[in-house]
Amino acid sequence: MLVSAAEMLKKAKAGHYAVGQFNINNLEWTKAILTAAEETKSPVILGVSEGAGKYMAGYKTVVGMVNGMLEEMKITVPVALHLDHGTYEGCQKCIEAGFSSIMFDGSHYPIEENVAKTKELAAICKEKGMSLEAEVGSIGGEEDGVVGAGECADPNECKMIADLGVDMLAAGIGNIHGVYPENWQGLSFETLDAIQALTGDMPLVLHGGTGIPDDMIKKAISLGVAKINVNTECQLVFAEATRKYIEAGKDKEKKGFDPRKLLKPGAEAIVEKVKEKMELFGSVGKAE
Ligand code: 13P
Repeated sequence: MLVSAAEMLKKAKAGHYAVGQFNINNLEWTKAILTAAEETKSPVILGVSEGAGKYMAGYKTVVGMVNGMLEEMKITVPVALHLDHGTYEGCQKCIEAGFSSIMFDGSHYPIEENVAKTKELAAICKEKGMSLEAEVGSIGGEEDGVVGAGECADPNECKMIADLGVDMLAAGIGNIHGVYPENWQGLSFETLDAIQALTGDMPLVLHGGTGIPDDMIKKAISLGVAKINVNTECQLVFAEATRKYIEAGKDKEKKGFDPRKLLKPGAEAIVEKVKEKMELFGSVGKAE
């Protein structure tokens, strides 16, 4: 059964580790991430962007697929199904479809509007037993056509949003989605420190996990980050493994064009990548 992310993140914050949010794109992705979580006894959050939701034929399809896998794969670790960077309308749809967690990304609204909409969604989530992630200070890079500049959030605004009854807070600290450019300045730990000082026990979320050096990840966790989002890195290893398979001509021998064979190396590469991240984030064994 899907669970809200609130409990797993509270435990992670108290235990100084982070739970990974890995974005899903299709059945192979979902199965690979659940396999990695179960094998490492790690709690996990499956992230679904609005674009990926559409790609998978809608949120109800996603809920049906994930619930089916939890049962048929006999998954025992806590799993949350979470809308990533949701619009207000997208959040309503996922609440109805049976997600266990949502992110409302109101970072592009004036702070008063972000507060008003986040507050409204917090009340609904509380009633339904779902968890809610809010965002302050937009995350840079491009995701599903939305381009952010990678700003640093205002700690006072973070405090305002954290006090609305949300379960986790994404705050920009110079992180961006996708691969980091050569001239990236790194994470702003001063900003993170200031946010954590004002928001206390609130689990903080680090978006744009792809390509952040391991030492920065560990430092971010030590400063209150309890959820880390990874998407692009799984896409890169999937593409690389699939390219190797095709370039080696394996699709041309012994029915290697069968999708169950063709997509296998990519899916296995995702399992390995996710396990590696879970190890780095410290979530391995936390679901035992
Ligand atoms: P990356 O694609 O950079 O790993 O970011 C993922 C993310 O933050 C999803 O919200």
